[in-house]
Amino acid sequence: MATGTLSHVYPLGSRLNERGRLEVGGCDVEDLAQEFGTPAYVYAEDDLRARARAYVEAFAARAERSEVVYASKAFPCAAAHRIFVEEGLSCDVASGGELYIALAGGYAPERIYMHGNNKTEAEIDYAVSCGVGHFVVDSFDEIERLERLAPGQPVMLRVTPGIEPSTHAFISTGQVDSKFGFAARDVPRAIEAMRTLRLDGLHAHIGSQVFDMEPFEQLGELLAAMGDYPLLNLGGGLGIAYTADQEQPSLDAYADALTAHAPAGVTVLCEPGRSLVGNAGVTIYRVGTVKRIPDVRTYVAVDGGMSDNLRPMLYGARYEAAIAGRPGGEDLCTVAGMHCESGDVLIRDVPLDDPRPGDVLVVPATGAYGHAMANNYNGIPRPPVIFCSGGDARVVIRRERYEDLMLRDESL
Ligand code: LLP
Repeated sequence: MATGTLSHVYPLGSRLNERGRLEVGGCDVEDLAQEFGTPAYVYAEDDLRARARAYVEAFAARAERSEVVYASKAFPCAAAHRIFVEEGLSCDVASGGELYIALAGGYAPERIYMHGNNKTEAEIDYAVSCGVGHFVVDSFDEIERLERLAPGQPVMLRVTPGIEPSTHAFISTGQVDSKFGFAARDVPRAIEAMRTLRLDGLHAHIGSQVFDMEPFEQLGELLAAMGDYPLLNLGGGLGIAYTADQEQPSLDAYADALTAHAPAGVTVLCEPGRSLVGNAGVTIYRVGTVKRIPDVRTYVAVDGGMSDNLRPMLYGARYEAAIAGRPGGEDLCTVAGMHCESGDVLIRDVPLDDPRPGDVLVVPATGAYGHAMANNYNGIPRPPVIFCSGGDARVVIRRERYEDLMLRDESL
């Protein structure tokens, strides 16, 4: 990143203000750090809305009938849900907990799709009692369970189509050797096993952070050929740019691929998570220590790390960073967290401008699977979620407090 400019991975509308400081949603990031503390997840609310709207429009322009289903695992947050409800999205939940948050966010229960490769009886009962629209059935055992607990329930069937996009193995889900769904050869047997369940369509999700559109088109063709149903759900997975050198495939190209082989009259569903929320959010940290090891490495330690962003450790995910008041720079640094592990490194070899203790450090593109996968390792309270728009900031999820860490402890 050249000094004075921002890369395209920042939320829409981000800019450097007159003081040369980073602004997200019209809010000066240093002021946010001062007011709300660090670390914090900061989202540009208008970015979330714009991307949701673009998704709805892209699919409406190509398919007679379409439905954009937000994969809420990416950012399970009621305030985000409310925006997506207003924009006409449906919701994918992968557990009872995500269902609870989605309902709090205001979706009509019939617009919710219940996922999971091992839904418990308690989750099934809960989802049925809420009036969830569809279960996405994942296994023969689940068919038996649903027949018993939810006879007559509308369902979709999850297929593992044997399509393997190029992405990290941990987030690749389309292959036959997968814990998810039914291999194509087992689909007829699964359909036969359904006695009262109403099969409304097929579903597949081939993986996440996918840049090549070809596998999506193949998937649409394959699933459309597997039977005539009212619904055709081709999952999520559209990749996003995490660093300046990456370019996100266009939404138009993605929508083209998903709708290319959709039969007339079918409702085409897509299930985006990351591509709706990933670039809408940044994480802000405060630099605490700078350790220079001459000729070896400069460690810039921030007040978070693997408790607020597990992605570098789990998937080798690469991010960029900037000092909020001095974006750009050429000092190659390693941004480390404050946890008791050498592996607690957020970014290796990222250029920064002479980082010092007290600086606010911003990591963009953390809007997906950051807050969602946050944890309390080392007894660290989880960061708040701040929504910014037009220069106003509001806390939508407050910072955890030390007392929260003891809330479930029954021993005292
Ligand atoms: N639909 C289903 C059934 C899924 O399992 C997923 C993601 C999605 C949709 C949304 O995929 P997306 O559009 O976000 O790529 N924690 C990992 C990602 C795991 C994705 C799991 N399933 C990460 O941080 O990269």
